[in-house]
Amino acid sequence: QKTYKIASIPGDGIGKEVVPHGQIIADVAARQHGFAIEWTVFDWSCETYLETGQMMPDDGIEQLKKFDAIYLGAVGWPTVPDHVSLWGLLLPIRREMNQYANIRHIRLLDGVQSPLAGRSPEDIDFIVVRENVEGEYSELGGRMNRGTPDELAIQEAVFTRKGTDRIMKYAFELAQKRARKQVTSATKSNGIKHSMPFWDERFAAMSAQYPDISTNQFHIDILTAHFVRNPDWFDVIVASNLFGDILSDLGPAIAGSIGIAPSANINPEREFPSMFEPVHGSAPDIAGKGIANPIGAIWTIAELLEHLGENAAAAQIEAAMQQSLMHDETKTADLGGSATTQGCVDTILNAM
Ligand code: NAD
Ligand code: IPM
Ligand code: MN
Repeated sequence: QKTYKIASIPGDGIGKEVVPHGQIIADVAARQHGFAIEWTVFDWSCETYLETGQMMPDDGIEQLKKFDAIYLGAVGWPTVPDHVSLWGLLLPIRREMNQYANIRHIRLLDGVQSPLAGRSPEDIDFIVVRENVEGEYSELGGRMNRGTPDELAIQEAVFTRKGTDRIMKYAFELAQKRARKQVTSATKSNGIKHSMPFWDERFAAMSAQYPDISTNQFHIDILTAHFVRNPDWFDVIVASNLFGDILSDLGPAIAGSIGIAPSANINPEREFPSMFEPVHGSAPDIAGKGIANPIGAIWTIAELLEHLGENAAAAQIEAAMQQSLMHDETKTADLGGSATTQGCVDTILNAM
């Protein structure tokens, strides 16, 4: 029997609440589909930081390299500045494991109400392909003259030809597998003087290599408006690190809730493990109350199993998850329901 080694990092806040459920659901699916999972749970979090001064040990990334995949909850807690916790754990994993493709599915699922009037599942079904290791998220820059009237912060963005072309290639190849075969580019080449004109040039060059794919592009400002007014226009959207981050919170919001959205940090060359995490964060405002929506973490574990080639197990989890969304009593409050986290999970386990 095949046994996968998976690293689990629940992290902070509701990450600690939803990830254990995702593990149990994956184990149930594994038993039914003839494989096993050997979990190693890492307690790396803001609590660890407050005790040790580090979000993860010096050899943390090395430790993760031996796994088949990584399952992460959320990182960040009000007791530690966000740039310290995120640059101490989540962002280095993405970067050092070369997980340059961040794939975020946005789908209005059956049984979920969109906040947009009159929208049904056919209208909202797209994927944000977010560049995940360069762009606006950069260590280049600095701060000067702190605390003086001449205080200054400089933050550089980095767009390499390799990095830009490979994320666009990923988006085009993904679009080739979908019915609509369309790629939209998120740009801002009117206001951002260097990186975005370069991004547009590379998008034009890559488009020419995929004559079977139709393309269009929008500046990021109007693109966010189109997500709300015309979500049915979109299929695959390719975006820089920051623009993709913003679009992938707005997308789940129009598809019902940030609490349902999955995210896959993929290293397409499989030199290193890929990492799977819900899009949402640690939600300090609801942490500890037992009401977090577990669907984001559960959809995420289905994507992780699919990545490992366990498609039937993934499909079973998605089908069970779908059943929990059909009734108010089995949906959590963010979706207008009355279920607790545990209540929603129990429905999914019963359906499996
Ligand atoms: P957040 O996603 O944690 O919360 C935003 C809002 O959505 C809150 O009102 C929260 O209650 C709600 N929400 C989020 N997930 C939910 C769920 N599963 N069920 C029900 N409601 C849910 O975003 P934030 O408040 O900007 O960030 C909080 C902390 O998490 C910060 O430290 C931030 O840096 C971090 N963060 C981490 C990740 C990650 O690790 N991938 C992602 C985003 C934010
Ligand atoms: C996400 C998060 C992270 C990001 C933060 C916590 C650094 O918002 O995964 O979307 O911006 O990538
Ligand atoms: Mn985000």
